[in-house]
Amino acid sequence: MDETTPDRLIVIGNAFRSAKALLSAVELGVFTALAEGPEDQERLSKRLGIHARGARDFLDTLVALGLLDRDARGRYANTPETALYLDRRKATYIGGEFEHAGAYVYPGWSALTQALRTGQAQSGARATGHYGALYADTAALERLVKGMTGGSLPVAKALATKFQWHDYETVADVGTAQGCLPVHIALAHPHIGGVGFDLPPVQPLFEAYVEQHGLTPRLRFQAGDFLRDGLPGADVLVFGRILHNWDLATKRKLVTQAYAALPPGGALIVYERLIDDARKFNASALLASLNMLIMTAGGFDFTGADCVSWLEEAGFQNIETISLTAEVSMVVGRK
Ligand SMILES: C[S@@+](CC[C@H](N)C(=O)[O-])C[C@H]1O[C@@H](n2cnc3c(N)ncnc32)[C@H](O)[C@@H]1O
Repeated sequence: MDETTPDRLIVIGNAFRSAKALLSAVELGVFTALAEGPEDQERLSKRLGIHARGARDFLDTLVALGLLDRDARGRYANTPETALYLDRRKATYIGGEFEHAGAYVYPGWSALTQALRTGQAQSGARATGHYGALYADTAALERLVKGMTGGSLPVAKALATKFQWHDYETVADVGTAQGCLPVHIALAHPHIGGVGFDLPPVQPLFEAYVEQHGLTPRLRFQAGDFLRDGLPGADVLVFGRILHNWDLATKRKLVTQAYAALPPGGALIVYERLIDDARKFNASALLASLNMLIMTAGGFDFTGADCVSWLEEAGFQNIETISLTAEVSMVVGRK
């Protein structure tokens, strides 16, 4: 008997439905509403503005996906995971990433075939290779930087423990968005201060986030364009999900500039979803690289070995690759 079944293909081919159900649930505020306590279908859907026709199937889909529980009386409740990470009012909220994905990334992925045929970015503003046009829309700017906090919060917490911060005093996070990374390093290491460097429109969002965590003036914003203005100085420079946005020449240029900006003994940390060196196993990092194809003019993700070679070329020494979360790793080089 032939044991090859099509089951796996069917699951992969329909995976976008599960993803979109989660993105819509975050957009509608399902998990934030349920943080106040369990609710039945009618009350919950009325509160969230969900039409009666799809409400039951939608909420039961979330149950079947393991994103909600339903009790014997038919009341829906968050699971421990969704209660902790998808309630907008909690400091542990990572749903900003999904809000950004729902509004911006998911629509862009419908043009993957076109991006593959043409090699051209398909998603409006970032297709120019710069963030300027995207940031002209304040709602899009806010969604993007908060989305970055959602994506970088687990990384920032891991990085606070997996790097020798006691050997250094200052950090500059290049392309900092809301400042999630320096904030969580500074919270964990009271001797650390520094800057978040980003394009000027990001300043108020960074400053509000830093203030909310009681870190003004230990952390301050430095406005600049790293393609034109060079990099800030600090003992540790961080490129978090920065290099993947750019073509190879710009990646190399940024790494070289980082070497020049660091003092002797300083360190560069690059964190990304690194593709495994065999380019065979880490589908999520390879998919992230296709995301760069859709969203940017020349960006692509890369392997740990690629990144190590750029750091070596620039002069970095004692280079290490260290896993931070299930998906993200860092490459650390010292000057
Ligand atoms: C993909 S996000 C990464 C944010 C953050 N490091 C993280 O890991 O969550 C890229 C960041 O780089 C910033 N950026 C893009 N182009 C820039 C430039 N030319 N100069 C300075 N910052 C820039 C964007 O505003 C954005 O905050």
